[in-house]
Amino acid sequence: MGIEEIQLHDLDVEDFIERQVQAIGEAVGDGLAVNALSGGVDSSVVTLLGHRALGDRLKTCFIENGLMREGEPQYIVDVFHGLGVEVEIVDAREQFFAALAGVTDPEEKRDKGITEVFYKDVFGKLVRDCGAKVLLQGTIFTDVEETVAGVKRQHNILEQLGIDTEQAYGYKVIEPIIQLRKPAVRAVGEALGLPEEIFARPPFPGPALATRVIGEVTQERIALVRAATAIVEAELCNSGAFQYMAILHEDKVTGLRDGQRDFGHQIEVRCWDSTDAVTGEPTDLPFQLLRKIADRMTTEVPGVVSVTYNITGKPPSCIEAV
Ligand code: XMP
Repeated sequence: MGIEEIQLHDLDVEDFIERQVQAIGEAVGDGLAVNALSGGVDSSVVTLLGHRALGDRLKTCFIENGLMREGEPQYIVDVFHGLGVEVEIVDAREQFFAALAGVTDPEEKRDKGITEVFYKDVFGKLVRDCGAKVLLQGTIFTDVEETVAGVKRQHNILEQLGIDTEQAYGYKVIEPIIQLRKPAVRAVGEALGLPEEIFARPPFPGPALATRVIGEVTQERIALVRAATAIVEAELCNSGAFQYMAILHEDKVTGLRDGQRDFGHQIEVRCWDSTDAVTGEPTDLPFQLLRKIADRMTTEVPGVVSVTYNITGKPPSCIEAV
């Protein structure tokens, strides 16, 4: 696929940082650049590399797409304020929900519902408004690999799918960490001075909770999966797992509540052991912990009557459900 991977054991972190800072400086010249910070380790690393290279000539935005976890926008703004980086929250909720309305096919959701809105509408307007010509983003090696292999259309893959971003969207895209996989990105993040709560964060996908709603993504269904996610994260944050999540299923099932039939929602819990997300195994969680999660879901998340745990590995399962 024309990109040379740098493996963790070959990575000279300080040299990598120096080379990327220099490359960003050269690519942007004396102009302006924009970057979107989602709060994941990848975009956080790119934010710090970009600020080292460009200082105030980099405008960092958090795109509030309405699909994020509880409290996430302000949490990220506060963490980066502490690092000396000011982050602007851009409210794009209406645009994303409008594009996702009525869409049920997973790849269409990723393409029309997420990628088009991010790159054409939201970033397109951002760069036009501030006069930037460059977007910095945290694409990593695994993202490219999965998209090129046809596993999933990852939201941030453009050039490798033949998209000329200057022509299609009006700006150039720079991807400083595209040669790295997650463990190497974490090492760079630590060396750049990111707090551990960020550099060691479990991965979270760009399309956010939209990858965890099977079927149509609506505000109501996102609210359900957001509440379920908060429970899974609270209960599994000390599990040592690579990634964990709650998924809202499309089909409803018959349950029983207060002696009455309750035709309600199903939540699937997934928890993964993995190093780089290319393959994964379900974490061998204690049954009592799973029962506790199920009890919390069915009492705290309105309308949930069934909770399951995915015991399939990747492959053939994938980490996210969409
Ligand atoms: P899958 O579901 O393909 O996920 O097994 C592999 C890893 O990638 C994350 N993921 C994404 N990350 N944009 C991203 O930035 C995406 O479109 C996307 N889809 C999946 C997923 O959370 C896991 O860590």
